Amino acid sequence: MPFTADIRKEFPILEQKVYGKPLVYLDNAATTQKPRRVIECMDRIYTTVNANVHRGVHHLSQVCTEEMENARNTVKDFIGAAHSHEIIFTRGTTESINLVASSLGSMFKEGDEVIISTMEHHSNIVPWQLLRDRTGIVLRIIPLKPDCSLDIEAFARLLNNRTRLVSVTHVSNVLGVTNPIKEIIDIAHSHGVPVLVDGAQSAPHIKVDMQQLDADFFAFSGHKLYAPTGIGILYGKERWLNAMPPYHGGGEMIKTVRFEKTTYNELPYKFEAGTPDYVGAIALGSALEWIDSIGIEKIAAHERELTRYAVEQLLTIEGMRIFGKPDGAAVSFLVGDIHPADMGAILDRLGIAIRTGHHCAQPLIDHLDIPGTVRASFAAYNTKEEVDILIKGIERAAKMFA
Ligand code: ALA
Repeated sequence: MPFTADIRKEFPILEQKVYGKPLVYLDNAATTQKPRRVIECMDRIYTTVNANVHRGVHHLSQVCTEEMENARNTVKDFIGAAHSHEIIFTRGTTESINLVASSLGSMFKEGDEVIISTMEHHSNIVPWQLLRDRTGIVLRIIPLKPDCSLDIEAFARLLNNRTRLVSVTHVSNVLGVTNPIKEIIDIAHSHGVPVLVDGAQSAPHIKVDMQQLDADFFAFSGHKLYAPTGIGILYGKERWLNAMPPYHGGGEMIKTVRFEKTTYNELPYKFEAGTPDYVGAIALGSALEWIDSIGIEKIAAHERELTRYAVEQLLTIEGMRIFGKPDGAAVSFLVGDIHPADMGAILDRLGIAIRTGHHCAQPLIDHLDIPGTVRASFAAYNTKEEVDILIKGIERAAKMFA
């Protein structure tokens, strides 16, 4: 049986029809569907081992704690971190970036600078604006070249002795373009500046290795890589995480609490106040094991081929404009002057799920001077036949607007 047929069987949601048409789910950059093993994992935890972690001497609490810590170890191996205590469970990429902006950012002073780029998701813009409002830091923005790639020479010129952090996306959620993140990290490090990588759109699609990248922070979400919503990861190098103050206060993140003074727990618990989403964390571990059982390189090659094929087929459509040079698992486009929302509504009636609009990246959409885009994004279970259905759907919509 071919690669995708085997894989699709594991995703019950893909078997359904919408409006009487087979579901063609191409909105994976927004969220992926979940394999049976992840759904069953959550069911198993609630059915057999549910108990609060790190708190109980009793059997269930110990089993649940062990499963959560095993999941942390699975994440560590998945991204090639040096230590499992460098893996912080968060609610997702957004919370991971907010954690760094709030905690590391509290050590910044008025006039200090943070560099982001024109193609950032709002979750890597607004936390820095909030920090700017609190502390008076200055935001510097890496511009784009005409082909929508990051202007690396301009980036190098932005670095100066006030730069405290570079925070950039690895893969654009709109353009599906992979940034030269290793080069960016090396340039920043040559100025002694740490780098936060928004890995929301890279971790699900390419092999990431913290030892090779040498990123100081790396943030990603579980739900974009076959795990449940509400669980995500902040990886941080031990020395940064140790130097940073806590983010949230509460149970678990403390060693001792007295009204006069509180001392904090060791890593990673210092950053995990309150009862964590241990079921989500364990299910994230299960999702990563599922990815490992296929191989991230194999998934990446499959998705790249789908994107290459989609771009080739899209370009046969009159009036097609593709933004950037997608090389990953997503492609953004417009056809003539058809509004993306209209295109999305027509495709929806054909059973095709894509995302339209600004994709939470308004500065990039403003830069392109367009109302938004139509975005198709792929996962391990998508097929070339689904790309063909998408192309037919777009052609049909184009005829309706001709
Ligand atoms: N960040 C997600 C997307 O690009 C929601 O669709």
